[in-house]
Amino acid sequence: MSNGAMPKPGESDRADAPRHVAIIMDGNGRWAAARGLPRAEGHRRGVDALRKVVRASHELGISYLTIFSFSSENWSRPASEIGDLFGLLRRFIRNDLATLHADGVRVRVIGERDGLESDICALLNEAEELTRNNTRLTLVVAFNYGSRQEIANAAQRLAREVAEGKRDPATITTDTLGSYLDAPDIPDPDLIIRTSGEQRLSNFLMWQAAYSELVFVPIHWPDFDKAALESAIAEYATRERRFGGLVAKTGS
Ligand code: FPP
Repeated sequence: MSNGAMPKPGESDRADAPRHVAIIMDGNGRWAAARGLPRAEGHRRGVDALRKVVRASHELGISYLTIFSFSSENWSRPASEIGDLFGLLRRFIRNDLATLHADGVRVRVIGERDGLESDICALLNEAEELTRNNTRLTLVVAFNYGSRQEIANAAQRLAREVAEGKRDPATITTDTLGSYLDAPDIPDPDLIIRTSGEQRLSNFLMWQAAYSELVFVPIHWPDFDKAALESAIAEYATRERRFGGLVAKTGS
């Protein structure tokens, strides 16, 4: 997710459609609190919203959808809430994998696998393996993910190659480092959406977001739907992307 590869056959070439949309699904807790419901109910309704948005994404011609499902910082939440989130991931994969596969969705997972329970790792591997040849939409699940950790891991691998005499430090470019990130074959996000009104990246895709357009929407994640996605894309379509140059360019 770093080299801005050209569209491949089957990928969207619509001028105004972002090829890769990444979403920070925020506001589940506040959605629940506003209704006097437990936070777990907010997360459960968040999974319902996710299902709708995955479907809407392939209907809208998006080729890659990345979702921030569990951040490295989420470990600081109460154990019961962490248990709820892991339970939802288990159920999402067990219940939805067959449908995702039938719909042509390829699942990829980014983030740290070390330290995750073995059944979670097995489910993540199963989702990736089963769907590896699907081409309609790539769903990148950022789970136990933090951008600084991802970059540090890449730096560590490169440092090891230098220490072993396999690499000259002068050969390390931004493309090299990018190719050591978790999903180097996935193009950078064109559009990053954050729900709930918060306006920050919170350690999400910080390398890959260098030239992403950011759209912040005031609604909480459980209320996000196809219409909200279309409206974020319409906002994206008004932006002029110059990638540091002087003239507008089309995405990646
Ligand atoms: C933010 O809401 C959301 C999360 C921490 C996790 C997002 C998870 C889901 C949508 C459900 C799980 C999906 C999968 C595939 C596992 P928040 O709790 O930070 O809300 P708040 O800021 O209002 O408290």
